[in-house]
Amino acid sequence: MRDQAEQLRQRISQSSQKRSTKLVTVTSGKGGVGKSNFSLNFGLGLIEKGNKAVLFDVDLGLANLDVLMGITPKKHLFHLLEPETTVWDIMEQGPGQLEFIAGGSGFTQIMQLDDDKLDLLFSKLDPLQGYADTIIFDTGAGLSKESLHFMLSSDEVIVVTTPEPPAITDAYAVIKMLHSRNPAVKIRLVINRATSEREGKMTADKLAMVAKRFLNMEILSLGFVSDDTHVTKAVKQQRPFLLTYPQSLASRSIRNLVGRYLENSTKTDIPAIGLKGFLTRLKNFIR
Ligand SMILES: Nc1ncnc2c1ncn2[C@@H]1O[C@H](COP(=O)(O)OP(=O)(O)OP(=O)(O)O)[C@@H](O)[C@H]1O
Ligand SMILES: [Mg+2]
Repeated sequence: MRDQAEQLRQRISQSSQKRSTKLVTVTSGKGGVGKSNFSLNFGLGLIEKGNKAVLFDVDLGLANLDVLMGITPKKHLFHLLEPETTVWDIMEQGPGQLEFIAGGSGFTQIMQLDDDKLDLLFSKLDPLQGYADTIIFDTGAGLSKESLHFMLSSDEVIVVTTPEPPAITDAYAVIKMLHSRNPAVKIRLVINRATSEREGKMTADKLAMVAKRFLNMEILSLGFVSDDTHVTKAVKQQRPFLLTYPQSLASRSIRNLVGRYLENSTKTDIPAIGLKGFLTRLKNFIR
């Protein structure tokens, strides 16, 4: 009990320190390309570098981040509608200091809330503003109207693809759709399961070239994650590969990628719209 009270005090004091909180949505065209594994290990990589990341599972009904971490969430986002429940009650402690919020049945449920409930839900998320440096949303594959709203409300969208042509084609379709809705949207590319640095770079270059030529759009590649059997092993053990196999190729490539991501963020970032901005935009889309 005392521990919990102390934790709560620490959290409240942390969240009142004015950090700017960046909202990042991880998506893909094709399913199964590694979004959830990327979101989880990217979040842990950020934490290793002192960037406080909080992970949200917003995959519609197919949420599986909890399975990847070997935890069973006791509560999810929609428990916030209960009068007594605070955002700290729905946060699960994942491995490696990573905090995690399960999204329940995600977008569909959010879309069905009446105005009062939506306001209540969003106001209860407020304390996360300033508490986290980065909030990462792991979404399902493909382009539902709802997931599009989520992406368009974020500061940044990370599109994950593998080097396989069907995944690249579907990633391009997502990029094209996002660009048609908002040409200013910030898209970052991650090539997962690259068998070499060269393959990662060639895949990213190909996509960037097509986006430049047909959409006149610059896409920044954050780099690649190696194709590595340690990932599958870690999935079976329900542990993040970055923690279980820290020296594996996949872990090393994630660390490089995180380093590049943070370096690039400090150089080029316009200030994050923050959680409040995100929720306002999302609400405008929903209504
Ligand atoms: N870098 C990698 N190296 C080897 N295997 C990988 C790698 N990344 C992902 N995988 C394999 O792909 C599987 C699917 O990964 P993951 O669940 O992260 O994909 P996803 O894009 O989140 O899927 P969904 O679209 O269903 O949400 C993993 O269980 C793992 O076996
Ligand atoms: Mg997933």
